[in-house]
This record gives sequence, structure tokens and C-alpha cells, in this order.
Amino acid sequence: MTARGIHGVWGSRWTFTLAATGSAVGLGNIWKFPYMTGENGGGAFVLIYLACILTIGVPVMIAEVLMGRRGAMSPINSMRHLAAEAGAGRHWHALGWMGVMAGLCIMAFYSVVAGWTLHYIALFATGGGPSAPAGETFGQLLANPWRLLALHTVFSLITALVVALGVNRGLGAVSKYMMPFLFFSLLILVGYSFANGDFAAGARFLFHPGFDEISRAGVLQALGHAFFTLSLGMGAIMAYGAYMPRRAPIGKTVLTIAALDTMVALLAGLAIFPIVFATEGLEPSSGPGLLFVSLPVAFAGMPVGGLFGALFFALVAVAAWSSSVSLIEPAVAWLVERLQWSRWRATALVTGTAWLLGISCVLSFNLWAEFKPAWLLGRTPFDFLDFLTSQLLLPLGGLLIALFVGWVMRPQDAAAELRFARQQTFDLWRFTLRYISPVLVILVLIVGLVDSP
Ligand code: TRP
Repeated sequence: MTARGIHGVWGSRWTFTLAATGSAVGLGNIWKFPYMTGENGGGAFVLIYLACILTIGVPVMIAEVLMGRRGAMSPINSMRHLAAEAGAGRHWHALGWMGVMAGLCIMAFYSVVAGWTLHYIALFATGGGPSAPAGETFGQLLANPWRLLALHTVFSLITALVVALGVNRGLGAVSKYMMPFLFFSLLILVGYSFANGDFAAGARFLFHPGFDEISRAGVLQALGHAFFTLSLGMGAIMAYGAYMPRRAPIGKTVLTIAALDTMVALLAGLAIFPIVFATEGLEPSSGPGLLFVSLPVAFAGMPVGGLFGALFFALVAVAAWSSSVSLIEPAVAWLVERLQWSRWRATALVTGTAWLLGISCVLSFNLWAEFKPAWLLGRTPFDFLDFLTSQLLLPLGGLLIALFVGWVMRPQDAAAELRFARQQTFDLWRFTLRYISPVLVILVLIVGLVDSP
């Protein structure tokens, strides 16, 4: 069964880098990272998150890309193929299934939050921003299930469109233009915060670690977020790796992606926290609304704030768009391989399923706000899906990837994909993947889950 080429190969080496960066950079960086940092007391959380990126994220990402390229199919079938090649059991393809499930669960809440960004584009484009205090505007949005549903639906549809068009045509183009613009507008916002916010307090909050501020559950959140922000542990990066040309260097590419991703997150933090500390009534720990209540304050204080606000949220929406595509792609690729469905039909089924699940997330903010049953571990559906994926499925998926490539795959096969210039680099990577990353993930999972509220 050789299927390299059913789904297409990236147009060039850069397309993989762009698409994978497009997948990595998204709401995780601009929406989730700042509010999680805020909830977990700042610097210590940031430091642990950075350490997780380096010791776990980068080695596991290299492993996931190389599995994808060697398997050359959807994650489920790549796993089957790689397990056979290594002479390992058939059960390894369960990892692919777990990833497909995780992708659907993430897409469900991701699309709802991406919908909020669409609302803010319209808000700034039409009236120059919220007239009421920003917190009230956000509260009104959340209280309106029909509006949230409409926004969630629009975002699901535009994601489906790109997935259905196919990776090369649909994606390369989107990422190429969005990324530089996003970077640039974040820099402008940081500049604004520097001039008008309490920059010293913001930077101190982000970079001064106070270890008494962070709980053990917070450490698990930092680990989970390292996976989430790099799109690791569910097969998204594996699926993209499958479309990577044979000769492209994996290690360098992964380092570039991780560096860009981290920079975007830190810039978002540097844009948001100085405003939070300079504005009466804003708290770092205000939760998922942080981005949506803090930045409008900045836009209100700028000369062409309405226009810039609309542009900024449009860029965030595009970043979310190029990420959500990778949540859907593994399942679609599998349906196309297995049932020979057209991409359109497969996309309709997969996106439709995620959309249905997403309705529970829409309702989590209004009609079902008090629905926190024990079987959702006392959380709303929105919070539960976030917890289940970031703090359980992704770390578990990442752990299995590390174990597979580190212990099951033949080292010469891994080496053949990587072709590092120096043997020491390979040895360092393999040692980290075999011993350091798995032990850390297991430790943090155990300790964090015991303490999770
Ligand atoms: N990394 C994206 C973000 O930070 C979200 C994302 C896209 C993702 N694909 C993924 C997260 C796969 C986990 C797994 O917004």
C-alpha cells in the first residue's frame, strides 16, 4: 500500500515549514497562553512552559514529523505501516485513533473561540470598537447562544473549505501572507503597550519567576500547553510530515517552527499584560476572556484604533484558521485512504461531527453555564474538552510517540529520515527522546492529575 501522493506533496520545502508554523501559531499563542499565564501567576509558569518546549516539545516534534514522513499516509495508516516495519504489535495504530478523537474534541472548542474573533472583527470594522466597557461587551457576546452558534458555524465552514481544497492549494497560500503580518501587528501592539501601558509590571509578571505562585496542577497545564501550542501529540504534525518532501531537513525545520511559535506567544504576553496592569478593573487572572477585554482597551486609545483592531482580530482569525485545518486533516486523510471518499465528503463528515460537539461548548457560556456534571469532572463541556485534550490526550499521545520512536523504531530508520549533519546531534536527540521526555511527561501527568481541581 503505497500512497505517497494521494493527498499531494507540499510544493516546496518552505510550504511544509509555513503550513506547520500555520498549524502551531494560533489561538494557543495569542488567546490561551496569556490567560493561562495570568491564571498561574506569571513567570514560573512561563519558565516551566519554555523548559517543556525544549526538553519535550522539540524532541517529540522531530519524532512526530519523521514518523509522518516515513509513514507517508494518514496518522492511523502511518502508524500501522511503521509498526509493521519495526516488527511491533498491531495495537500501535490506536495512537492514530486517539489523535483523530483528540482533533475533533479540540476543534469543537477551538472553533467557538475563533468565532469570538470573528465577532470582534465585525465590531471594530463597523463601530470602531466596543462602546461599553470591554468586559461588558464580551459578557454580552457570551450570553447570546444564537450569535455564538452562528459564529461557530461560519468558522467551521471556512475551515472545511480549506481542508476540502486539499493541503497544498488550500493552505500554503494562506500561511505565506498571514504570518509576517501577524508578527508585525503584534510588534506594533507591544510598542503601544510599551508607550502607554505599565510595561515594567507586565514584563516582570512574565519573566520574573515566583515559584510559590504555581501549583502542581499548573505544571501539568504548562506541559499540556507546550503540546497544544506546537500542535503535538495528535497526529496533526504527523499528517503534515507525510506531505513533506524526502530531502527536507527535519531538525532545523522543527527548531524554526518552535522558535517562531514561542516568539509569537511571548509577544502576545508582552502586548497584553502591560495593558492589564495599567487598566483599572482588569486582572491577569480573568480567564478565557483576557485577550478580548484587554486589547480593546489598547485599540480604544489609538488614533486609528478601530481599523487596527479589525485588522488585528482578522489576523488572529486567520491564524486560528490555519491551525484548525490541521485538527481536521488527519481524520479526513484517513477517510480518503480507507473508504476512497472524495475530500469534500470526508471533510463534511469530520467537520460536521466537530461542529455538533462544538454546540455543547457554545452552550457552556450561557444556557448550560451551570451544567457541570460529575462525569465531566465537574466542568462545563467547554472546560472539560479543553482539559481532556490538553492535559490528558496530548501528553499521552506525545508520550507514546516518544516511546515508539525512541524504543520501538529501529534507530537506523530514524537516522535515515533525520540525516543530522553530526552524530552527536542524533545521539543527543535520541537520548532525550528515550529517557528525558517520557520520564518528565509521566511524572508531570501523575503529579498534576492528582492535584487537578
Ligand atoms: N497549535 C494550535 C494553537 O496553538 C492549535 C492546534 C492546531 C493544535 N492543531 C493542533 C493543538 C493539534 C494540538 C494538536 O492554536
